[in-house]
Amino acid sequence: MSTERVCLKNYNTFALSVQAAELVVAETIEVMIKSWQRAKKRHQPLLILGGGSNVLFLEDFSGTVLINELKGIEVKETEDAWQLHVAAGENWHQLVSYTLENGMPGLENLALIPGSVGSAPIQNIGAYGMELEQVCVYVDLLNLTNGEIERIEHERCQFNYRESIFKHQFKQGFVIVGVGFRLSKQWQAQLAYGDLKQLEPETTTALQVFEAVCATRRSKLPDPAVMGNAGSFFKNPLVTQQVAKELLTQYPTMPSYPQADGQVKLAAGWLIDQCGLKGYQIGGAAVHDRQALVLVNRGDASSQDLVDLAKHVRNTVVAKFDVWLEPEVRFIAANGEVDALEVLS
Ligand code: FAD
Ligand code: EPU
Repeated sequence: MSTERVCLKNYNTFALSVQAAELVVAETIEVMIKSWQRAKKRHQPLLILGGGSNVLFLEDFSGTVLINELKGIEVKETEDAWQLHVAAGENWHQLVSYTLENGMPGLENLALIPGSVGSAPIQNIGAYGMELEQVCVYVDLLNLTNGEIERIEHERCQFNYRESIFKHQFKQGFVIVGVGFRLSKQWQAQLAYGDLKQLEPETTTALQVFEAVCATRRSKLPDPAVMGNAGSFFKNPLVTQQVAKELLTQYPTMPSYPQADGQVKLAAGWLIDQCGLKGYQIGGAAVHDRQALVLVNRGDASSQDLVDLAKHVRNTVVAKFDVWLEPEVRFIAANGEVDALEVLS
């Protein structure tokens, strides 16, 4: 399906009423390649979207928005695991539910994250003590220029906190078309994070973890269907041990998470909250009143309101804590993605 001059309000979870020159809903790889070739011929940009839950449109998009609707889930059972090959246009949360309904535990900590399966490896989605990379075996990548599909094995994906090779080397001219998962039969509940610590490791089932994660998320995070948002607007900052130590001397209750590489992760939501910014509003954009890391569209926010609010949050946090926050959300201008830090500085 292809529509010209279309409003993107229903295609980005901030619910911003920006427009695109054309919208293509692609159910096949052939449609993707044809759309790319047509966009090239017209000298127009092409933007791939899944659920639009990690993007901020800064203005109207001057080219084609291609919605990835490739569908299909294949399961192979081996002695020690379930191997899944999932088409990129499948919905992430529905995949989590499907695996649990069919007795394949392992994805429950990542329940209720919006968006599509194909987007999940891009920022190595993570929540409640788990990251996608723990179960992702490979990513199938379509090269739009030559039409070839290359399998990128886990080791080449360069997964890290909210990071992967798909934000860098494979950012332009490539589409993720499928993802491979391995769910081990040696399942163990992962209960190290937050409210999950209250559960009993020996008796808790995957379904109980799923339900606990969904309940916690529903109590903290705004539902995009009710109030526009893109989840955490900023990443949790990584600082040196020395910086963390100095901050902890001044703020002994500050949450801090030492990392394997020696850096220390801070909680951006806590830093913003301590600045008294919960509920702070510019135009129609506000800091969420239950989770300060989430910026929301209260209904009539413009892209500029959100940019102005994000600037204010960053500047306030650096003035109090001397820590710069970096956006997690991807900033999209008329011709494609732009450097979010440049927009905010
Ligand atoms: P989109 O926003 O559609 O796209 C994101 C980027 O990937 C864009 O640059 C796009 O061009 C590119 N892209 C999309 N699909 C493809 C493809 N097939 N091939 C190549 N490039 C592609 N994230 C977490 O990690 N943990 C959380 O707990 C979490 N909670 C959230 C809660 C809420 C309420 C919301 C709104 C968001 C949350 N997020 C979370 C962020 C978001 O859900 C994830 O980043 C998700 O993976 C984005 O998927 P999407 O399909 O919506 O991506
Ligand atoms: N906190 C506050 N005030 C706030 C928000 C948080 O004091 O307004 C404190 C909490 O009390 C807690 C700490 O900060 O001590 C961390 O908060 P939380 O557990 O809510 O997690 P987060 O660091 O704010 C991260 C991810 C989320 C993910 C949750 C759960 C990032 C950028 N965000 O949030 O992912 O769901 O952990 O694992 O890493 C997303 O990426 O979009 C996202 C929602």
